[in-house]
Amino acid sequence: MNLLASRPSLHMDGQDGLLFEGVPLQTIASQVGTPCWVTGAGTLRRRTRNLRKAFVERGLDVALHYALKANDHLATLTVLRQEGCGADVVSGGELRRAREAGIDPASIVFSGVGKTDAELTLALRENIGQINVESAEELHRLSRIASALGLTGRVALRVNPHIDAATHDKISTGRLGDKFGIDWADSAALYREASRLPGIEILGLATHIGSQILSPAPFKAAYARIAELVIGLRSEGLTVRSVDCGGGLGVRYRDELAPPPAALAGAIAETLGDLDLKLAIEPGRWIAAPAGVLLTSVIDLKAQREGVSDFVIVDAAMNDLARPSLYGAWHGIVPVAPDLAYAETVSQTVVGPVCESSDIFAKERQLPAVRPGDHLAILDTGAYGAVMSSTYNSRPLAAQVMIENGQWASIRPRQRVETLWTDESMPEWLDAE
Ligand code: LLP
Repeated sequence: MNLLASRPSLHMDGQDGLLFEGVPLQTIASQVGTPCWVTGAGTLRRRTRNLRKAFVERGLDVALHYALKANDHLATLTVLRQEGCGADVVSGGELRRAREAGIDPASIVFSGVGKTDAELTLALRENIGQINVESAEELHRLSRIASALGLTGRVALRVNPHIDAATHDKISTGRLGDKFGIDWADSAALYREASRLPGIEILGLATHIGSQILSPAPFKAAYARIAELVIGLRSEGLTVRSVDCGGGLGVRYRDELAPPPAALAGAIAETLGDLDLKLAIEPGRWIAAPAGVLLTSVIDLKAQREGVSDFVIVDAAMNDLARPSLYGAWHGIVPVAPDLAYAETVSQTVVGPVCESSDIFAKERQLPAVRPGDHLAILDTGAYGAVMSSTYNSRPLAAQVMIENGQWASIRPRQRVETLWTDESMPEWLDAE
């Protein structure tokens, strides 16, 4: 129940069971089936507004470029566009999605360590607001492509500030040796060069040091380094108009002390606030993670010998939600039915049916004794959930639902199993038989 106390979008109702933004998840699970992702539009809106408010209260005008990779469903993007967000994209596909959702090209930023010629061409043709260049090689390539097209790319240099964000190794991006960004020691020279290159309009600098960051200190250290660069470049007479402060603000999944948005606003205000810059951030997880749950059903129980937790086998798996198997991530799990809410708990291990030992959602977790057919909600799966799904083990992509103001609607039907092989074909010699 502690899990619900810190999550204002979720409530346990004695009659209707677990409610998400007031909608009984029981209804969705029984009508749509499971596994099913549920996105709360109201939560997306509330969190976006809270984030914005934190900056306004620090006297900062900061543009929000939502990082599509966290949850790129067109309905999510539409909600966030309505809330005034631009987009941070990392592929041609994401760029096209952002445009499909009606996001103004002027508020689209293209980040990413390996943009192809075709993707850079698309970005130039769409005339997007900013391309975050990640290397000298990419800068030269962009200059050549833009010049050949007679177009100009608006560019920020993404700087690797060599700051350890103190987060999971696999989601750290700002250390020496990480593949991202331009070594901060080389950034001033490249900026100088960029200001003279054809087809390039240099706007400023960008940085992004990692994800699920739980302390303001690394943010502040990285931005201080960027501020130093800004001041140095300006002292040479170069123009630096903007700084893109990246994403990375962490959320509470279990009992972490996640910094409030005000802490991020403070880190930015104290380092970059007085430099007369156009500022932006690229949040993904902070907006989207608590705005989603994954509904699943218990298929079976598998008893273990005395002293070993029993297995609860559910119908969602690592192909749906990859975070626990990929990063050892902890997600809250709450039974949906009201009668289970206050039942005594026992230690159980919740696993999916995929044939991998890492297909575990929760190891030795205290949960009410569930039965086959019971529905469970896996919490905080709105970011890096559905977007990271695969069809491994020929498991079709799960259904998706959006809720808002007490209503709910399907936003993606469960994938039909036949569609898994519709694009497959046989080499002639096999057909010949
Ligand atoms: N900007 C850039 C350039 C990024 O690479 C990322 C995330 C973001 C913004 C958004 O970061 P956020 O605010 O969401 O932390 N799959 C992993 C997370 C990977 C994050 C990759 N980059 C997970 O499930 O934890």
